[in-house]
Amino acid sequence: MRKKIVAGNWKMNNDKNETKILIADLKESLKGVELENTRVIIAPAFVFLQRTAKKIKNSKLEVAAQNMHQEESGAYTGEVSAKMLKSVGVNTVILGHSERREYFGETDTLLTKKVNRALQHKLEVIFCFGEKLEDRKSGNHFEVVKAQLKNALFHLNSEDWQHIILAYEPVWAIGTGETASPEQAQEMHAFVRELVAERYISDVSEEVSILYGGSVKPANAKEIFSKEDVDGGLIGGAALHADDFLAIINAI
Ligand code: 13P
Repeated sequence: MRKKIVAGNWKMNNDKNETKILIADLKESLKGVELENTRVIIAPAFVFLQRTAKKIKNSKLEVAAQNMHQEESGAYTGEVSAKMLKSVGVNTVILGHSERREYFGETDTLLTKKVNRALQHKLEVIFCFGEKLEDRKSGNHFEVVKAQLKNALFHLNSEDWQHIILAYEPVWAIGTGETASPEQAQEMHAFVRELVAERYISDVSEEVSILYGGSVKPANAKEIFSKEDVDGGLIGGAALHADDFLAIINAI
């Protein structure tokens, strides 16, 4: 049975103290909670990853990085490598977020390299993809998503997919308060699962978790998560408040 996952992408939010408090609140609140077949992941900023990895040991939380560089090592000022992440206890990395694509020029070609490097270091990848508003308006959303997945992931072999989590994040729904309807999310998730099924043996498409991201809140989480092909959420703004994040975990 594929895993349910609720992941919080904290983006460039929370200083050291805020990070400490939020993690402590989440840890404490999750103590008595039975997380059946569900993983809870948080992705604070790079500078807090090492400390976070230590803090969450023996808790129900897991930690992820929000990005990493594609090269093994070298003269890339300001960058962080897969090996560095592994060495501080991080086993999961978010790649391909639309903000990375939009503000940092990340292309499918670059993301292929990042995915390969991550897998080489046995990092699990939460791979984000999704169409822009103009793609949806012009009816191109399926084609855009298909290209994003094909270009960056379809060279992988079936075993590699055990370390891939997909996250459909329509760009028009991120941080806008506008969510895809549960039906729109289900439609895209089913399309993606079918794409994977066409490319790989059946197990891969059935086992891969596909998360939805884009203005998920306690008020809409349950309805979105109730859809057959929605296996959880990648949460931005609402992951910064322990109560909201816990309510979303509860919704799953
Ligand atoms: P919001 O939940 O703030 O819309 O952000 C979603 C997101 O980008 C998660 O990666």
